[in-house]
Amino acid sequence: MQTPLPEISRLLYGPIFTAPPAVFQPPPRRPMGIVPKSAADLAAMRTAGRLAAEVLDYITPFVKPGVSTERLDALCHDYMVNVQGTVPAPLNYAPPGYRPFPKSICTSVNHQVCHAIPGDRVLKSGDIVNIDVTVISPEGWHGDNSRMYFVGEPSIAARRLCEVTYDCMWLGILQVRPGGFLGDVGHAIQQHAEKHGYSVVREFCGHGIGRKFHEEPQVLHYGKRGSGPRLQPGMTFTIEPMINAGRREIRELADGWTIVTKDHSLSAQWEHTVAVTETGFEVMTLSPGTPAPPAFARPAPAVAESLVAA
Ligand code: MF3
Ligand code: CO
Ligand code: CO
Repeated sequence: MQTPLPEISRLLYGPIFTAPPAVFQPPPRRPMGIVPKSAADLAAMRTAGRLAAEVLDYITPFVKPGVSTERLDALCHDYMVNVQGTVPAPLNYAPPGYRPFPKSICTSVNHQVCHAIPGDRVLKSGDIVNIDVTVISPEGWHGDNSRMYFVGEPSIAARRLCEVTYDCMWLGILQVRPGGFLGDVGHAIQQHAEKHGYSVVREFCGHGIGRKFHEEPQVLHYGKRGSGPRLQPGMTFTIEPMINAGRREIRELADGWTIVTKDHSLSAQWEHTVAVTETGFEVMTLSPGTPAPPAFARPAPAVAESLVAA
């Protein structure tokens, strides 16, 4: 991030010092301590991302009325540990100020925003649930992703919120390119959410990811175009907007983890892990069951191709 130099210090210091003072120095090559991944690192991240996405594929048919969130957790845990050979990153995860997370996935239902702990709650038709899965691959890399699931038939309002939130995530992803600004991601997300009368949760953000679950940078889901660190090839981070149908304020439950909307309005979230490439972005959390990108995010078919097909 470049700090604009106040006019007064230019006058005072500019002509005097032969060596420029700190404020004149060019921005660091690694903005805000973000360390780009090597090609080999990215290959390992791609594997971790695919494994994380495959857990979401696996659990999809079980998300039905009558299932408890702890059953979904147990199924995912077993799949990760015994089928994939991965480690569920949330289990016993304890960032500063938090007690250890007691389960292997997060299952946030309806007005729960994120980090809801699986338990004896039984899903019923009309619920919407976010399932958030982070794996640690056998090579020690993290893949982090989440999707929204409809339990039975959703209300029109719930379906719309989930769709708009999905588009928000993709509009954010489409901003990712070398030389771009991280703030462009948040700006695109906030614009789209607020255009639909929704609000963006501020207290939680996307994050750098790699051998660590959460690292630099923080990926805000709101903000100003042209703000924040510049993107460089090899940077890897998540984009995971939490969008509320009502007001943006949140509350933490007494369990020390579960976040809910203060006004009890519905909340939705989608998450992918992405990498900055030489030309744009790569989504790392891809699997056979990954929902298709929205139409606006798909490349237009070449004219020649469509003529051949016709
Ligand atoms: N997967 C969440 C994220 O997207 C973090 C969950 S931390 C946990 O960053 F401990 F609640 F699992
Ligand atoms: Co995340
Ligand atoms: Co996550």
